[in-house]
Amino acid sequence: YRIHVPSDTTAKALGADRVARVVEALAQESGKDLEIRRNGTRGLYWLEPLIEVDTPEGRYGFGPVKEADLDSLFAAEFWKGDVEHPLALGLVEEIPYLKRQTRLTFARAGVTDPLSLEDYKAHDGYKGLENALALSPQAIVDAVKESGLRGRGGAAFPTGIKWQTVLNAPADQKYIVCNADEGDSGTFADRLVMECDPFMLIEGMTIAGLAVGATQGYIYLRSEYPLAQQNLNAAIETAYANNLLGDDIQGSGCRFDLEVRMGAGAYICGEETSLLESLEGKRGLVRAKPPLPAIVGLFGKPTVVNNVLSLAAVPFILDQGAKAYADCGMGRSRGTLPFQLAGNVKQGGLVELAFGPSLRELMFEFGGGTYNDRPLRAVQVGGPLGAYLPESQWDTPLDYEEFAKVGAVLGHGGVVMFDDTVDMGEQARFSMEFCVAESCGKCTPCRIGSTRGVEVIDRIRAGENVEANLELLSDLCATMVDGSLCAMGGMTPFPVQSAMKHFGEDFVKNASNAP
Ligand code: NAI
Ligand code: SF4
Repeated sequence: YRIHVPSDTTAKALGADRVARVVEALAQESGKDLEIRRNGTRGLYWLEPLIEVDTPEGRYGFGPVKEADLDSLFAAEFWKGDVEHPLALGLVEEIPYLKRQTRLTFARAGVTDPLSLEDYKAHDGYKGLENALALSPQAIVDAVKESGLRGRGGAAFPTGIKWQTVLNAPADQKYIVCNADEGDSGTFADRLVMECDPFMLIEGMTIAGLAVGATQGYIYLRSEYPLAQQNLNAAIETAYANNLLGDDIQGSGCRFDLEVRMGAGAYICGEETSLLESLEGKRGLVRAKPPLPAIVGLFGKPTVVNNVLSLAAVPFILDQGAKAYADCGMGRSRGTLPFQLAGNVKQGGLVELAFGPSLRELMFEFGGGTYNDRPLRAVQVGGPLGAYLPESQWDTPLDYEEFAKVGAVLGHGGVVMFDDTVDMGEQARFSMEFCVAESCGKCTPCRIGSTRGVEVIDRIRAGENVEANLELLSDLCATMVDGSLCAMGGMTPFPVQSAMKHFGEDFVKNASNAP
């Protein structure tokens, strides 16, 4: 019998390591032939630690499992799968939260042993690279263009067009840089890829290298992800040992080298040009664009800078074909986006969906509403620079253009939910305060504007000259949107403006206490 205990950071934080140790000890005691494997996670965090057992019908699940539950699980002989127990979840793939998803990028997450190349290959791994090795660089770029894949870091720029720009740029050296500085509030999809399926990212980056003629790749990883660092480095070592990285990939004569570089904990280093500065060993200061990194990037050379999820989507596209990817989605938003449900939510976790369902469906049919059953009031989509959406906007389809129409962004797919006790004036203040802390300081609207923003919001909340200060705040937001060099200062007003527009009453509730 084989038992799978998850090993990602969230499951560990919820006690998965202790559970694994006790399972091991009880297995020995019981004298049964039980093999314990550490899988990644399916991303159903509300059920973690979610133990799975192999059976001929598929994997049966039990969760959330605490150490105290293990005696009764052993008494029920849970390794047989279909047994009576309060934590029995039935077949894992039949759990509606998982069954209703379209898992293209996260098909292997939680299924395989993250560090087993054999397991990766047994689940369609490295088929994309095999196909790519038989194609010309232009044909690989064309496949990515046809798939409709757009940048999953948040800006949604067509990945194939970015690759074409780099392919067309003549240079003696080009680079592939993976932006793994996942900094958006409530997001964890990049981490999940790196901890649970690291070979997929390595394969995607190798294909990108073949496509544009880059022989060196770097993964710029945020320092808060030590397990991702460990798993990526172990997987890279295995890939080198199996000729899947290095100077003669699979006997093709093609070369691609890959290294992980650690960031130092600055949100702005997720902005592609300050990331490049940091990678070059300098302070993470934003560069003016143009020139685009695709033309003048790392060390002045043409560079593909892609988010983890964009690169992780590539093996599927090269394996199953561009059409299989493009067939999912709506309008210009093709394929899937891995949404991440967080904040005050009952069923938090990863939900990979083809574009199209509404935000309401995501939050209620998957998320199950708020954790404490209080009415949901506001939701911030797309990280700390994303707008807050009131109930009147929850029927908006999950689609880049539909979100833009209501002044919101899908960004990297982070969804943070707030109940009716939230003070949206405080949230708006926090947006400005976040910008004060994280601004790189290069341009005035962001560096000074954010500090002034905090002060003006404080005055409004204290009931001082409310009308005049609200007008001043609107002006300040417009200046930051129009005058900032990058998205940090340019988008910080989005949550502020949306909070003012849809939850204005929260700003002025102290107005009657005005001195
Ligand atoms: P952008 O719109 O300036 O650029 C998007 C990408 O397309 C860049 O890589 C740019 O170099 C490239 N590009 C643009 N025109 C091109 C062309 N003609 N040829 C080749 N490449 C071209 O957006 P930016 O500033 O890179 O990203 C902003 C977004 O980042 C925001 O929308 C936000 O959602 C997201 N974000 C994500 C975070 C995360 O943790 N994932 C954190 C903070 C922001
Ligand atoms: Fe730096 Fe802010 Fe200007 Fe961006 S907007 S360049 S983070 S000061």
